[in-house]
Amino acid sequence: MIELKNVKKYFHPRRGIFSSDGDSVKAVDGVSFTVPRGKTFGLVGESGCGKSTIAKLIVGILEPDSGEIKCQGNTDIVFQDPFSSLNPRMTIGDIVGEPLFISGQKRNEIKAGVKRMLSVVKLRSAECIDKYPHQFSGGERQRIAIARSLVRKPHILVLDEPVSSLDVSIQAGILNLLKDIQEEMYLTYVFITHDLRVAEFMSDAMGVMKEGTLVEVASPREIYSSPKDGYTRQLLDSIPKL
Ligand SMILES: Nc1ncnc2c1ncn2[C@@H]1O[C@H](COP(=O)(O)OP(=O)(O)OP(=O)(O)O)[C@@H](O)[C@H]1O
Ligand SMILES: [Mg+2]
Repeated sequence: MIELKNVKKYFHPRRGIFSSDGDSVKAVDGVSFTVPRGKTFGLVGESGCGKSTIAKLIVGILEPDSGEIKCQGNTDIVFQDPFSSLNPRMTIGDIVGEPLFISGQKRNEIKAGVKRMLSVVKLRSAECIDKYPHQFSGGERQRIAIARSLVRKPHILVLDEPVSSLDVSIQAGILNLLKDIQEEMYLTYVFITHDLRVAEFMSDAMGVMKEGTLVEVASPREIYSSPKDGYTRQLLDSIPKL
């Protein structure tokens, strides 16, 4: 369903007013993994290790320098911060319907699609279709962002820290919703998070990233019970004990 083979993406800094030519950043440096249809691959690792770059490569926002990325079916993406990913001047109906509008669908098809997707994310369409993003809570805004990313019925959804900007008390609601949607629509997820507990809850398999490479790929159970890599062990040790 999703297959990455030795994927590399380097960024080359350009000479600016305040900087001279630096070394290139090896954001993704030879990453391979596969995700079977209907499953969730959790990608964890510290800030700057290349998680979002992989997300953008999978959905085609970025092109790899080398290696191969194969996705069976359409892909879409949900970003971390629903405040900046939702246009504040557009109504919820227009935001969720925009991808259908762009792909040339008719008005009544768009309306039906928007209503269907809002109900999938458990929002009452009649109450929110004419409102603006600021009139919703953070959790509701992320539901709206999820509805928008699903409206074209993708097969693969990349979720880049989808609950990291939300209060812990509403994270669980969104995570459970995402699991229900996955089952309902038979979606394949790449779920990016720096929270190992969230990754454990969501994932069938987890990949631990460090400085552009995957240091370990295993089931959450294996990662927790017998982490093979020293870096994975460090990450596990850094989880606050409750
Ligand atoms: N467009 C870009 N131009 C130059 N460098 C970039 C670009 N995008 C990312 N980088 C660099 O590539 C590396 C990986 O970035 P990336 O955003 O993939 O990390 P991340 O794991 O998602 O981090 P975070 O957890 O903070 O979101 C970082 O060093 C980053 O500064
Ligand atoms: Mg990121």
